[in-house]
Amino acid sequence: MSDLRVRPMNELDIEGICRIDEKITGRYRPEVWEQRVAYYIRRDPDSSQIAEQGGRVVGFMLGEVRGGEFGLEEPTGWVEFFGVDPGAREKGIGRRLIEALLAHFRARGAHVARTMVAAQDKEIAGFISAMGFSPAPLSALEKRL
Ligand SMILES: CC(C)(COP(=O)(O)OP(=O)(O)OC[C@H]1O[C@@H](n2cnc3c(N)ncnc32)[C@H](O)[C@@H]1OP(=O)(O)O)[C@@H](O)C(=O)NCCC(=O)NCCS
Repeated sequence: MSDLRVRPMNELDIEGICRIDEKITGRYRPEVWEQRVAYYIRRDPDSSQIAEQGGRVVGFMLGEVRGGEFGLEEPTGWVEFFGVDPGAREKGIGRRLIEALLAHFRARGAHVARTMVAAQDKEIAGFISAMGFSPAPLSALEKRL
């Protein structure tokens, strides 16, 4: 993938992210992504990365380093939202994106990266596991409201 470029996300990427999200979820949600993109850029600009090819956004991955959550004092790099254009998958773009996030997490002092995967999401689980993540000694709990 010679002309593939991975770089920090900016506000101009919202449209490209919406387009990929629509292909994945069937929903066009500009207001959702405007809010998310603004949040992540404000919190931690280099921890959210875009894959661009021929001037088009072909993948995104949003995350940030946070500490002190869930009784975990150590700074943790959280991988939170990602997607690769269905027409550009299985070419290593997801891997390039996560490698860029992990490098920034390390640079910000994190020695661990974490993410959450829904049990039924086999595709995402397969990717995350191929990226070297393994089950954590934490329980995800919920209560319906
Ligand atoms: C998961 C996803 C990001 C993978 O992107 P990709 O660019 O195709 O991934 P890569 O080509 O970099 O693959 C990297 C590794 O993950 C593995 N992998 C990728 N997709 C996989 C899948 N569906 N099942 C199992 N393993 C998978 C590959 O085999 C590869 O492993 P290898 O390098 O050891 O061969 C992409 O399929 C996607 O965007 N899925 C939808 C995500 C989604 O629903 N997002 C919304 C919620 S935030």
